[in-house]
Formats: sequence, C-alpha cells, structure tokens
Amino acid sequence: MSLRSLNVGLIGGGGGAFIVHPHQRAIHFDGTRQVTAAALHPDPDIALVEAKEWPFPIQGYRSYDEMIESEVRKPAGQRIDYALIVTPNHVHYDPAMKCIEAGIPVFCEKPLTVTLDEAASLVAAVHEHKIPFGVAHTYLGHWSTRFARFIVQCGLIGDIRWVDSFYLQGWLANRTEDQGVIQAEWRVDPTSAGASCCGGDIGTHALMQLRYITGLEISRVSCRMETFVQDRALDDHFTTYCELSNGGRALVRASQIAIGHKNDLGIEINGTKGSLSWIQEEPEKVIVSLPEQPDRTYWRAAVTANDGFLGDIPSELLAESTLPSGHGEAFHDAFARLHRCFEQDVRAYLEGIPFHCDGNRYANVEDGYTGIKFIDAAVQSNNQDGAWIDM
Ligand SMILES: NC(=O)c1ccc[n+]([C@@H]2O[C@H](COP(=O)([O-])OP(=O)(O)OC[C@H]3O[C@@H](n4cnc5c(N)ncnc54)[C@H](O)[C@@H]3O)[C@@H](O)[C@H]2O)c1
Repeated sequence: MSLRSLNVGLIGGGGGAFIVHPHQRAIHFDGTRQVTAAALHPDPDIALVEAKEWPFPIQGYRSYDEMIESEVRKPAGQRIDYALIVTPNHVHYDPAMKCIEAGIPVFCEKPLTVTLDEAASLVAAVHEHKIPFGVAHTYLGHWSTRFARFIVQCGLIGDIRWVDSFYLQGWLANRTEDQGVIQAEWRVDPTSAGASCCGGDIGTHALMQLRYITGLEISRVSCRMETFVQDRALDDHFTTYCELSNGGRALVRASQIAIGHKNDLGIEINGTKGSLSWIQEEPEKVIVSLPEQPDRTYWRAAVTANDGFLGDIPSELLAESTLPSGHGEAFHDAFARLHRCFEQDVRAYLEGIPFHCDGNRYANVEDGYTGIKFIDAAVQSNNQDGAWIDM
C-alpha cells in the first residue's frame, strides 16, 4: 500500500514572494508531499485572498497563529505534518517556536533567526520537544555537494590547508531597494534582516557549504563588512578570514555588489594531496586536481568506484542521484532532495520511531545556530577593526 502524502503548511509565500515557489515545486516533486494549508501574508485579509487565488486548492488562514491552532485540532492525517517557514528573517523565530511547541515539525529558511538568543532558544526547544527541524541550506541538496563531501572526508585530497568559500551576486549593486523589489527592501533593513544583509543572506550559505563538505568548524574569524551603496544601513560586501578547527585557514566571503555575478556560489579546497572545486552554477560536476595528473571532472551519475582515485562509493550516495548524467539536476532538485530527506524524519517522528535529524542530509537547527553565531562573531570583529573573535 502506498503511503499517504504528507501535508505541508506554508508560513509566508504570498504577495509576489520568491523562495516559496522553488520550495513548493520541491515539496510536490515526489508525489509524497503536498501543500495543503497556508498563512501567506502578514495582512489577514490579503492572506485569505491569496490563499483563494493559489494555483491549487489549499486551506487559507488569516495568520500563522490561526493555522497552527486550527491544524493541531484536526485528526492525524488531515492536519499539516510539517510547516515550511519562508518569511523574512525576523519572522522565523516566532512561528518556528510556536510550531515546535504545538508538535509540528519545521523546515525553516535561513538565516535561522535575527539574534543569537533566539537561535539558542530554538536549539533548546528542538531538543526538549524531540522534533524534526530542518534549515533550508539549499545547496547541501545538490548530489555534487554530497559527492564533494565524500571525496574530502575520505581524505582523498589530504589534510585541508586552505578553503575559499564564496557567494557572489550583483543584484544589490545599486539601490535596488528603491525600485519596488520587496526582496531587496527587507534585506537591507536591520529590523527584518538582522545584523547583516550580505553575510546573513548569502555568507551563511558559503559557511554551510564549507562546514558540510569539509566537516571542519570555524574556530576564529576576522571580518570586514563593507557597505558600498550609499545610505544603506547594512553590509553589501562581506569578507571573513577564518581559522579552521584543524588549524587550516579559510576565506568565507560574499558580495551583493559584484556586477555580473548571478548566484556564483562556489568552493575551492586545497589539501596536502590535491584540490577540489565546485560551483553551483555548474552543479553537475566536481573537479579534483592532483599533482602532475590531468584534472579529473566527476559528473553526477557518471562516477566509477575504484577508478584509481576513488575507492568504494557508499550505495546510499549513488542511490541519491535521480537522473542519468547529462540530464541536469539543478536548484529544484536540490530543494527536493532536502524535502525528501526531511520527509523521512517527519514520517519516523509521526510513527514514534527514532529519526536522524543529524545534519548529514540537510542542515539542522544546530547548523542554523552556527550560522547565526558566525554572523554574530563577524559583526563583533568588524566593529573592532577586524580583530580575531573566537567562535
Ligand atoms: N535557501 C535559499 O536559497 C533562499 C533563497 C532566497 C531566500 N531565502 C530566505 O527565505 C526567506 C524569504 O525570502 P524571500 O526572498 O522569498 O522573501 P519574499 O519577500 O519574497 O517573501 C517573504 C514572504 O513572507 C510573507 N510574510 C512576511 N511576514 C509574514 C507574516 N507575519 N505572516 C505570513 N507571511 C508573512 C510575505 O508576505 C512574503 O510572502 C528569507 O529568510 C530568505 O533569507 C532563502
């Protein structure tokens, strides 16, 4: 017998919103999850109108408070099985905490919160309520990110000496916030974005790629947060020089004034035996360079175990690839892989059996907390003229 679809409730997503749509497609990707309810907008009347006009039938609510209260009263199987939070950063903490307390698993956008205290409270609440909680660090969902992690963490490029992890965009190079672009308006406002625009928005993705692929943590940071566009309250260019937990060094850097760059997220890792590079705008491949050998380009779904460099490849990793090579997986597939993995944990939670929200398949609440701690340390460092700050 096939499983019933899990029901997902959206928090945010109306009024021309962006990231709800890739998420929603990813939720529906496998036929095992569906969006059934939503609180789409802070204005209760608009929220209801937008829900009525949604491209398929959903139960609209006037607010996320109303959605949480009504949904938990429904019988199991009819209520939402998890909530997806796709609101601006300052509206992550409150709905996330209310869902956790109501027993509703949460998949939340990054950065997790706008303050470190809020992030710490969410970690504590997730532990207390023993509930699945995912953070939408999209790019962990690329098969090639997982494969890069396998290569690095097997020791195939040796001990890590240096990492350059970057996310470069150009869309805030001018006063985009004055041009009616809602996504720009709230990102440059400290009350809705938090203490950092560029670092919090995309520097946290570069940080997460580094931590996930290398398995290393950041021990100390020295940061410069620049604001190149006049009269902007937050950074639009963010550079951290980092000390890694193995003694190596790294740059975690981001820019939103880098004209010409779209979503130029990438990482280069230099180890004692070789180097690895990955870029999200070409997410089907991982490049490995070894001394005095031709560079190796590994394409998703065209990888051979024991090829003279790779050893055995875990079957779970091979099984995660969804298409033959050359039929490209991309952004939506990455989101779908995260929701697919989160679904497994939600189903286990609903059945009362152990689940593994351990950060191996999607970012968890501790990863979200680490992102906020990183931003907090970066801001302290920047305020002290780039002084080293312990993480
Ligand atoms: N993972 C990624 O790759 C990625 C990409 C883009 C954005 N994001 C994150 O996703 C979040 C949303 O970003 P976006 O660009 O989609 O923003 P957006 O401005 O396009 O959408 C925000 C949505 O939240 C709604 N909203 C605001 N307050 C609300 C409330 N109180 N109740 C209900 N709805 C409310 C708005 O009406 C809108 O629908 C941010 O935290 C951002 O950092 C992540």
